[in-house]
Amino acid sequence: MESRVSMLALIKLGGSIVTFKDKPLAFNAPALEGVSRILKRISDEVQIIVVHGGGSFGHYYSVIYDMHSKPAEYSKEGVSRVRCSMVDLNNRIVNVMLEQGLRPYTIHPSSFIGEGKVPISSRVEELYDISKDGLIPVTHGDVMHYQDNLYYILSGDEIMSILAEHLGERVSVVLFTLAVDGVYKDMQSRELIRELRYASDASMDDVSMDVTGGMRRKVREGFKIASLGIDVWFVNGMHPERVEDVLRGKDTIGTVIRGNRVGREGSEMVA
Ligand code: IPE
Repeated sequence: MESRVSMLALIKLGGSIVTFKDKPLAFNAPALEGVSRILKRISDEVQIIVVHGGGSFGHYYSVIYDMHSKPAEYSKEGVSRVRCSMVDLNNRIVNVMLEQGLRPYTIHPSSFIGEGKVPISSRVEELYDISKDGLIPVTHGDVMHYQDNLYYILSGDEIMSILAEHLGERVSVVLFTLAVDGVYKDMQSRELIRELRYASDASMDDVSMDVTGGMRRKVREGFKIASLGIDVWFVNGMHPERVEDVLRGKDTIGTVIRGNRVGREGSEMVA
């Protein structure tokens, strides 16, 4: 089937948007409703793939059971609890999206990332195909089986890079939603960096209850994705109109890392 639209956006819903990060197991339905309303307005014009983080669900249990992104022999109870909490959070998210008129379709990361953290190309392609059909594939950070007795925490930010690498030039824009306006120079002045050129310019203050590296990880994945030639935006998901601005190719309050692979044509934005 021919693509209905020419633009594909990868959108990360940060754990600080979909949950109240400092309150265990607290889902932030109003914030998600806000973002969903905006996505609904634009979903006929843009193909969307959503990745969400763990916030006070997955991170909460990862901290309790001392689980990290490094493959190791973690507590089995911990593995079960983290997985269970992420499935629970995912279910709440897709239900809100559905109520807002979107057509989400959950695809757990274990269905497209195999043992040894190796992405399965054909399964990643399936996410693309499903988004082309007008559904919104929704995947998420999770605890993953590595091999033998080893498990690891896979952040949604890393999934964003994996998807961008595999889908390549089909991705028009990558957007990380945060609970702050973007990347700051430092946390004291909260001076927003409008265009981030060097990772060293950014404040990397880590957030509490976060085992996957907070802002540092996001910025690192952001630069990786930008090196593929894709613009990467960090915007405040509590102001969802900024998400719409980005998807419409307008400037907005936030931080952008410009796609910088030589020779790639500019991303095509909707009018
Ligand atoms: C974390 O995903 C997943 C688990 C802890 C299981 P992320 O690292 O992407 O989560 P946020 O967005 O920072 O909360």
